[in-house]
Amino acid sequence: MSAVLELAEVTVRRGDALLLDRVTWIVKEGERWVVLGSNGAGKTTLLQVAAAQMYPTSGAVGVLGELIGTVDVFDLRPRIGLTSAALAERIPRDEKVSDVVVSASYAVVGRWREQYDDLDHDRARSLLREVRAERLADRTFGTLSEGERKRVQIARALMTDPELLLLDEPAAGLDLGGREDLVSTLSVLAYDPASPATVLVSHHVEEIPPGFTHVLMLREGRVVADGPIEQALTQEALSRTFGMPLVLEEHDGRYAARRRLHRI
Ligand SMILES: Nc1ncnc2c1ncn2[C@@H]1O[C@H](COP(=O)(O)OP(=O)(O)O)[C@@H](O)[C@H]1O
Ligand SMILES: [Mg+2]
Repeated sequence: MSAVLELAEVTVRRGDALLLDRVTWIVKEGERWVVLGSNGAGKTTLLQVAAAQMYPTSGAVGVLGELIGTVDVFDLRPRIGLTSAALAERIPRDEKVSDVVVSASYAVVGRWREQYDDLDHDRARSLLREVRAERLADRTFGTLSEGERKRVQIARALMTDPELLLLDEPAAGLDLGGREDLVSTLSVLAYDPASPATVLVSHHVEEIPPGFTHVLMLREGRVVADGPIEQALTQEALSRTFGMPLVLEEHDGRYAARRRLHRI
């Protein structure tokens, strides 16, 4: 399997702050990664680098077989699906949901086209179905619940048939039901062999969807542990990542963590 993402000793510095500190990471085709870390750990920075939206201060970044710095990132970006709170804010509240999804293809592949063709609309419908938001197609984005918006954004990110899907905290701000809906949608995507390599950023192990294969844990810009979930996601690594003694439990492919109150 070839690598879709290859970071070697990647450092991102802003003034005196070290946002990423010598991060080395390889994501291969077919893999589904969760990036865990507390607020400020560098997760969004890492995703920005992976999305070819930010250049590292030092180190090498390969995205979809291209070395960043030697290619036109505008050719690369359409091959990457990205969702984040910052991108969501730019979606007009009065835009129809089906247009929110279909316009992703307009923005990147069809600048010259005045109208979307039927195939685009069919694809948008089927993606909305895949994220279980088909019945929302004719609503405006502003009338959706937070959870529904997150699912529509994922459909939009998939519209261009990306080779890499990057999701920055899609479960942030959701209530329990919204989170569970999203986790199950992401789980369906994870198990679908047609889905692109995926990186999901989160700070809660409860949000890891079944079917995700790998984890990378970050603390203060440094990798604490990475690898297949069942090996790398240990109580010890999680405790180091969040800087407190944690108890980690797994049940039916779902995880839960809580602070260890008494050392045994
Ligand atoms: N332009 C910047 N200059 C200085 N510090 C920054 C800048 N952008 C982000 N940071 C800091 O870098 C750290 C990592 O940020 P971020 O990648 O957004 O973390 P996360 O997504 O894990 O919460 C945070 O402490 C943040 O305050
Ligand atoms: Mg962040």
